[in-house]
Amino acid sequence: MKDFAGKICFITGGASGAGLGQAKVFGKAGMKVAIADVRQEALDQAVEELVNYGIKREDILAIQADLTDREQYKAAADKVEEVFGGPPHLLIQTAGVNSFGPIEASTFDDFDWVMGVCLDHVVNGLLIFVPRMIKAYANKTEFHVVTTSSMGAFMAGPTTGPYSAAKAAVNNLMYSYADALKPYGGGATVLCPGNIRSNIGDAEKYRPAHLRNTGYHVSEGTMKTLRAIHAQGIDPVELAEILKEGIENGRVIVLPSRDPSSWAAQLRAQHEIIEDYTLTAAEREEKSKARMAEMMKRFAPSGDEKDAPPPPPMWGVPEGGEPFGLARADLDWVDPSKKKN
Ligand code: NAI
Repeated sequence: MKDFAGKICFITGGASGAGLGQAKVFGKAGMKVAIADVRQEALDQAVEELVNYGIKREDILAIQADLTDREQYKAAADKVEEVFGGPPHLLIQTAGVNSFGPIEASTFDDFDWVMGVCLDHVVNGLLIFVPRMIKAYANKTEFHVVTTSSMGAFMAGPTTGPYSAAKAAVNNLMYSYADALKPYGGGATVLCPGNIRSNIGDAEKYRPAHLRNTGYHVSEGTMKTLRAIHAQGIDPVELAEILKEGIENGRVIVLPSRDPSSWAAQLRAQHEIIEDYTLTAAEREEKSKARMAEMMKRFAPSGDEKDAPPPPPMWGVPEGGEPFGLARADLDWVDPSKKKN
């Protein structure tokens, strides 16, 4: 997709972070932007921010909806058609939440919340909008679907189970759509950021009341630590500009850099780790030790650097913060070293 001006864009999670950056960039490119989000107050603030950014108020539509709910998503889709006169030419599904804790401590609520927002809302949007987009635009006007996934789609850690599973699924879905939409003149892209300067570290604050039985240790302190980490992330507008360049050039995966080759090494390393899962336990142990030794060699100080003070830890716990990724104290089957006692 190359021409954006005068067309319609629908962005989920558009009230904050990456989604708001996308609304700014595609709004500035002349699109009418519908931002859908579960938080009304954040939507109100986002509209003002978009107007101050130079986007005409009449080109912005804010829709409050819990997009994990199919009826609410359908109502949001009807609203954008009613107000802007058609389905989106560009559908960007960016809403997402995260929660960290040992996978063995996870509850159904942890899975339902994280996978509900990160995967189910994406499926809802694709099933509701894609038929409408094909009917309205196939082989007449460019159209494109995007999902904001994560580098977490390519790797899984012991404390990111539901999130990594949802993001890996979303990536695969977008590869399916990229091929499926081609005969209709449409395209698909999956954006896989690393760290974004956003509010995702505060997501626990609005976890729905019926999904609050978490197995993880969550507190003001863990949120403070996450906030400090995300403050070091990429600027959402810069990320959205990288995405726009990716859509214009037909990239299916968009990595968070203007130079995708800089991330290729990391992708290759992740693939190697996946290949290693096919090895015997002993072979894998050996390979993992060798990889670690190689990494230490690469980062070991040499010459004058030996006397230099060590660099500050990038992802340390800030004052008043707490480590995240631990289990709730009362889970009696969880290894004590993995929980907050
Ligand atoms: P954010 O918290 O600033 O924005 C996410 C938005 O999604 C919020 O405004 C929130 O209200 C909305 N949302 C949550 N549940 C919803 C629901 N049920 N229905 C409708 N809207 C809902 O976070 P951020 O970081 O901008 O997240 C955007 C996307 O980027 C997410 O998919 C996230 O997984 C992904 N991502 C974020 C990274 C980061 O470091 N922040 C790294 C990699 C990917």
